[in-house]
This record gives sequence, structure tokens and C-alpha cells, in this order.
Amino acid sequence: MLGSNVQSALSPDAKSRAGLLLKKLTLTEKIGQMVQVNGQQGEISGELRQGIISGSIGSVLNEVNPEIVQEMQRLAQEQSRHGIPLLIGRDVIHGFKIGQPIPLGQAATWNPDLVEAGAQAAALEASQAGINWTFSPMVDICRDPRWGRVAEGYGEDPVLASEMGKAMVRGYQNGSQAQLLSCLKHFAGYGASESGRDYNTTYIPEIELQNVYFPPFLAGLEAGCLSIMPSFSDLNGLPPSGNGWLMRDILRKAWGFQGFVVSDWESIPQLQVHGICEDRLASAGKAVQAGINLDMASHVYAENLQAMVESDQLQENLIDDLVLEILAVKYQMGLFDSHGQKTVTPSQQKNVIQVAQQLAEQSMVLLKNADKVLPLDKNSSGHFLLVGPMADQPLEQLGTWVFDVEQANSITLKTALENELGESLSFHPGLQTSRDQSHVQFKAVSKMAKAADLVILALGEEAILSGEAHCRTDIRLPGAQEALISAVAELGTPIIAIVMAGRPLVMEAVIDKFDGLLYAWHPGSMAGPALVNVLLGNTNPSGKLPMTIPRAVGQVPIYYGHGNTGKPATPETVIGLDDIDPHASQLSVGNTSFHLDVAPSPQFCFGFGLSYSQFVYGDLRFSRESLKPDQSLEVSVLLENTGPVDGVEVAQLYIRDPVASVTRPVRQLKKFQRVALKSQTSIKLIFSIQWQDLSFFNGSSWLVEAGIIEIYVGGSSDARLGGQIQLVTS
Ligand code: GLC
Repeated sequence: MLGSNVQSALSPDAKSRAGLLLKKLTLTEKIGQMVQVNGQQGEISGELRQGIISGSIGSVLNEVNPEIVQEMQRLAQEQSRHGIPLLIGRDVIHGFKIGQPIPLGQAATWNPDLVEAGAQAAALEASQAGINWTFSPMVDICRDPRWGRVAEGYGEDPVLASEMGKAMVRGYQNGSQAQLLSCLKHFAGYGASESGRDYNTTYIPEIELQNVYFPPFLAGLEAGCLSIMPSFSDLNGLPPSGNGWLMRDILRKAWGFQGFVVSDWESIPQLQVHGICEDRLASAGKAVQAGINLDMASHVYAENLQAMVESDQLQENLIDDLVLEILAVKYQMGLFDSHGQKTVTPSQQKNVIQVAQQLAEQSMVLLKNADKVLPLDKNSSGHFLLVGPMADQPLEQLGTWVFDVEQANSITLKTALENELGESLSFHPGLQTSRDQSHVQFKAVSKMAKAADLVILALGEEAILSGEAHCRTDIRLPGAQEALISAVAELGTPIIAIVMAGRPLVMEAVIDKFDGLLYAWHPGSMAGPALVNVLLGNTNPSGKLPMTIPRAVGQVPIYYGHGNTGKPATPETVIGLDDIDPHASQLSVGNTSFHLDVAPSPQFCFGFGLSYSQFVYGDLRFSRESLKPDQSLEVSVLLENTGPVDGVEVAQLYIRDPVASVTRPVRQLKKFQRVALKSQTSIKLIFSIQWQDLSFFNGSSWLVEAGIIEIYVGGSSDARLGGQIQLVTS
């Protein structure tokens, strides 16, 4: 990706006002702007009050009491020497009081406009509490569902994550009703933590950083994001909180970033724990040298920087540069003019709820629908049985990072289905929690299932099994859920499975027992009404997988944009240890890149998702056979809805560069469009490809190389309709 100019995010006026103010500050006051402290949940201690008034605190996180926030801002603006407003930060990750689907679920909507509306809604709610900065969006690419934080990101693909990250930045910062400073995190490569274990080591060559992990960050900066957070993980031997190559050479020099960098929670003193600094003082110096503007919660800047400057261990101009960036952002965000504390009107609140439900409905991915068992016919005389540990869990359905979501706002699947189906519905939890190992209720469940015409299984993982530091080595349905499924399946009653989870789960052992399968992620407060609308066909599901679903955890990392290898596996590859002739020679099962015991393909591939309609692609055409640097290529395709109902399809365009100076992925998503199409109608879709869309980093520079480019269009990364063009560089 060529370096791009993101300087326009900061206005010259903001910079010049910041420069004038900086000149008036004492060293203590400058360092104060670099200090963020944790709020005290509803009070202002004497120490905090004094810190604000003396100008030795520039930001507070995790205070959400509106009155307290207002008082802290009053102290800062009326009683401190220069009246510099505070940055009030909070993890507003997927909604605030009304929980929206987890970001991974929002990515499954492939709907940037709706995701932007969700961020606007969250900004409005959060601004009521005086929050003016959110530590979101998290745009860490991840291809390892063992990692708990996969829930917070937008999946495995740089293009989809980039579009989602840009939408979140726009929604937070440019909303008409409220603005929050956004924060791209965690820079960079955090999602590659070895073994899917949080905070673990990452070794990522620059070619992979540039082609896979950097693009969503650069895209977010281009959308105007003005703060960045480094990752906890060690990156190639230099943890980002002490990594000047990352924070200065890439972020500021190559990309032109003009905002500021906030450390992650105590990530600066953790440099000592990583082993690249001998003590806290050294970690403070290293972080300033690396370009970390603001210290989150550790006090390591407050404790050390003044003395380091006064004893010439640190030049004051380094401090000046970092403080200037913070002040410029405060001016840019208008914080000197108003705190932005808003009240939410009833009609706005209605919209907040509506957006949360729309996001939930569009996030759901229909993965199986044998014999069109879905949608349900609510007028049928049939009797439905709802079973499962996730059916009636108002908190668990919210997912991770929901400190401020009010449980009272949560509507569960059980509640919503009972409202809709009344007496035609029976319910049994089957298991008390998703981790419950007990089979004691299975008999009762079987008895009820025998009497039902259809069973709806509400499965998945509780919120606590997802999120930061909540990683799993076994990513199957936890507890005795597989046994519960088998117990119900024995009865032969049709089964519709709904999975609520913070990650792709392995379902290989039970997938054949489901007639219908709806993957709902953690759908948020409106899980119930959203699920009912999709199950009954009021909403035709349109979600597509933002991340591959493996057959087995042993396949991980497994993702669609992989290399071809020199010996790719073929569909005929042997599958299953029992299939191997015991007298076979070592070579008889073929020496290709596969596992003996699991098929080389995923359970479900990136970009896959069914609909109650059927979509057919045809008549692929290119506006030209070859493409030169100053030209663009129009790719057209005919999309038909041959199904019985109106629906929405996410049409995806992938490329493959079969021969290049370095190996390239077998598929790369480049463009997508959400298309609403009435039943029995068709539409001609046009995708426009620019020369720059085909650039890649080859280990030393960004370039586009002459040669063939294959182009595929379809409803998933497995799209077969394709053709090719010739790139001509001269
Ligand atoms: C956490 C997370 C980060 C979050 C911060 C503040 O440890 O890594 O994403 O924004 O602390 O809560």
C-alpha cells in the first residue's frame, strides 16, 4: 500500500492554536497532558481533583457518571491555569447502553453504512455521559478463533476490515448528533498472537504486516481517525509501546499520521516485563522515544519524565512534539468549545434500538437450510420446542466489552419467541449454562422434543468465554452441548440450531444433525426480536462470514487468502485415518499439503452465507482485456434472484495474481456490494477496479506488476465465475 496523506485529518487551525498554547505551558503542565488516569467510578478524590486543577492530568478513562464527568471538566476548564479540557475515554466497542452485535458480527453484515449508523448511535449514547473518546474500532486482522479478542475485530480480511474500520471512524467522529474521538487499535499484528493465546509473541515479516495487518489501520487514518493504540504483544522482538519503527517510521513518516498514540493499559511499564527495559524509568524513556504520547493508567510518565528532562536524560523538545499532537487533537475535536455532553431524545433512543436490531438481523449468517426448513411458518399448527443454554441469557447474548449495556434492555430469544408463538412454543434450557456438563435434564428434553414438530436449539458460548484474555484451545461448543444435540437428534424431529458466540466455533461433530443453522455471533440487546424476524422470514438473512469456520481447531490458522504452496491438496485428498490402507507405502496417500484426519477445506469459507432466496451469477464481462496504469477496469456481472422471496446478496469480487515476484494468495477480496433484489428479477452489477487496487508489497516496496490477473465474482470466497485480464505496465 503506497504511503498516503492522512494529514488532512488535522486542520492547520488546530495545529496553530495548539502551538500557541504549548508555549505557555510549564514542563509539569506539558507532562500532565501525557497522563491518563483511571476514573474512580462516581467520585472525585482529593488527589484527582488536585491533579486536574494543577494541570498534571490530561485524560481520565472509565468514568461514566455524567455529573462527575461534568465536574471534572469544570475543574479542568475553570480552575486550572490554562483551562485545557480533559479527554474522557471509554471502551465503547459495540453500543453503549443498548448493546449492538459484537464487531465480528457487525462485519458479517458487510454493510458499512449500517455499521456507521451503529457507531453514530453509540456516540450519541456515550456523549450523554460526557465521554468524548472511545478506544474503538479494533481493526486487528485475525485468522485464529482460539484468540478471545477475535470478537472485537472485523475478521480475517484486510479489505472487509478496512471498510468496517472506516465506517466506525466516520460514525464516531462525523455524526450529526454527537462526536467521539475514535482510536484504531491495537497497532500492530496483535491478532497473530501465537497459539491464539492473548498478549503472546508475534513474528510477522514486513511483507505480511504491509499486505495484511497494516491496511485497516491506514484506511482508518484516511477516514480521519486521530488516535492509535499499540498492542500488548511483542512484535518481532520490539513491543509496539517501545517500537519507533512502527510509531515513527511507519505511522508518522510513511503515513503522515498527525494525531496521537495512547498506550494500552500499563503497556509502557510492561516493556520491562517483556525484557527490553531494565526498569520503569527506562520504559518511560523508551516509550517517549518511540512516540507514545499518552500513558494509560500506569503513572510511569507522571513519575519519571519531569526528572528525566531536568537531568538531561530526555530532551524537552521530544515532550513538546508529543504534547503538541495531543493539544491539536483536543482543538480538532472542539473540546475547548464544548464538552459535547448531550441528552438523548425519545425519538433518538428509538433509533438507537432500531439500529441495534437491524445490525443484529443483518449480522446473522444462514449456514444450513436443508429442505427449506426455514423460515418457520408461525401460522402452522405445529408445536415448537426451544432448548438450549443461550435461549434465555440477557447478559450472555451481549458478548464481550459491555460494561455499560443495561441488562434491562436485553430481549432474549425465549421472550421474543414466546411473544410470537404463544402456546405453540415450549421451552427447556437443557443446560444451565453453555459450560454445563450435566446430562441430568436430557431425559426431560427428549420427552418434550418427542412431542414437538420442530426443535430450535439455542447454542453457543457465554460472553465470559470470549474477549480479552479469554482464549480457548478447544473451540467446539462448550459443556455438554454436543451431547444435548445428539440426544435431541436421536428423536428425528427437525432441528434448527442457532449459535451465539464470540468466535467461529468448530461444529464438525454435530453439523449433520442440524437441518437449519443460523450463526448469530453475540447479537446484543435485541437478539430476541432480531432472531425471531429472521426465523419467521420477516427478514431474509443476508449475513456473510467475515471469518472462516474450521472443521477442527487443528486446522488453525485457516483462512481463504492462503498461499498455494508447491504441493496444494486436491479435493480427492484422503480424509480420515481409517481410509488409509495399513499396508500403504509412505507415498501412497499423496504428498500434498493436507492433514490425514481432516479434509483440507474449512467447514464454511470466508464470505459464505445463504438466503431464503437463491442468487445466480452469470454473464461476467470486462470493459477491457488489458489494463494500464492510467486506466480503470469495469467488471460487470448479471445477478439474478431466482428464489421465491425478495432478498439481499453480498456480491464479492476476488482476484488472484497467479505469477508474481513473490507468492500471492490464491484469492484476495477486492470489492463487494450489498444488493437488494426482488424475487424473479435480475440486475447488472458493475465493479470498478483501479490500478492501485492491484498493488502489493513485495518485501521492499509497493508495486503493481505486469502479467495476468484472474478475477472471480460470486457470493463467497469460493466464487467460480471468473476470467482474466492482462496488466501492462508500459
Ligand atoms: C485493555 C485493552 C484495550 C482497552 C484498554 C482500556 O486492556 O487491551 O483494548 O481499550 O485496556 O480498557
